[in-house]
Amino acid sequence: MRNNPLPRLDIDGDTRQRLLPFCRLRPGDIWRDRQGSHRVACIDATDRTSVGQLIDGDLAAIAIQDPPYNLVAFEERQIHDYVEWCKKWVEITASILAGDSALYVWLGADQNNEFQPLPDFMIMMRGISGLKARSFITMRNQRGYGTQCNWMAVRQELLYYTKGNPDFEVQYTDIPKILRGYYKEVNGKTTENLERGKSENIRAGNVWVDVQQVFYRMEENVSGCYAQKPLKSIERIVSASSKQGDLVVDLFAHSGTSLLACERLKRRCYTAEIDPVYCEIVIRRLERYRQQGLTGWQNGHPFEKELGETAGHFLTKFRAQEQTPAICQSTLF
Ligand SMILES: C[S@@+](CC[C@H](N)C(=O)[O-])C[C@H]1O[C@@H](n2cnc3c(N)ncnc32)[C@H](O)[C@@H]1O
Repeated sequence: MRNNPLPRLDIDGDTRQRLLPFCRLRPGDIWRDRQGSHRVACIDATDRTSVGQLIDGDLAAIAIQDPPYNLVAFEERQIHDYVEWCKKWVEITASILAGDSALYVWLGADQNNEFQPLPDFMIMMRGISGLKARSFITMRNQRGYGTQCNWMAVRQELLYYTKGNPDFEVQYTDIPKILRGYYKEVNGKTTENLERGKSENIRAGNVWVDVQQVFYRMEENVSGCYAQKPLKSIERIVSASSKQGDLVVDLFAHSGTSLLACERLKRRCYTAEIDPVYCEIVIRRLERYRQQGLTGWQNGHPFEKELGETAGHFLTKFRAQEQTPAICQSTLF
């Protein structure tokens, strides 16, 4: 396997600076996809005017929001400030959702810090009119923290809210049904659950143990990104809550997983990101998929044309970061 990854761009400011000249977007710019109907905006998710320019009067069938939920990114700002910040983008999101639509929010619950920010965020959401709490999904991570003197924390939380009465398409996992039983009479005939089911596999419920966390050996890996969600998880959300041609909005693009999922599932995606480097990565990831059918760079990276193999000298640093104690990893998601 090739070994030419970028270091984590949130940590390595020098590399970030080297990449900035290669970025097509500057703050305030919007990239419009000529081949499809996606958009990428280099804007602040809490700026109502900028988000309005991105959406341009359209309405979204789903919003998938994955904000930075570490207090580290907020310079240890108090939880109150963090939740007030969330309230801004949640209200903006609510205003661009269609009458019947869905909102998904990824969030952390730090067991070393009163499970924050999840509980305070949930309470704030009760005050957002028009949104109804529908499900609280937990996705299992492989890496975790707290293993020595506590239960290892391996959860990623995903909240599902609805506005109006949107459609919902049941999703199935790759896990075959093995349990027999659950007999029920249908039209006078006793049927067993395997006969009644619509799939031979089990449904995706509100605990996801079948989604692999992204790491450097996977094709979809985008090195440099530190908080990439697995494509499978985003495709599950998009498939459950939208139809072909629908508009999906993601105001925290990062590696562009939502946009790529939309491209693959024939939805339109309008996505925002405050950092021009991640905006460029999002656009390049889409272009790479269209040209080569690949979903990421595995252990290479999006700026190889400009930096060539020189990024390889970051390898030792990168590997050292990979081995950072998991407590640090978790706070950076
Ligand atoms: C947790 S990551 C999103 C990960 C994404 N779902 C993926 O799969 O790649 C959060 C992203 O939000 C961006 N961000 C932080 N503050 C922002 C803001 N105010 N407006 C827009 N983007 C912001 C960060 O630069 C980071 O790339």
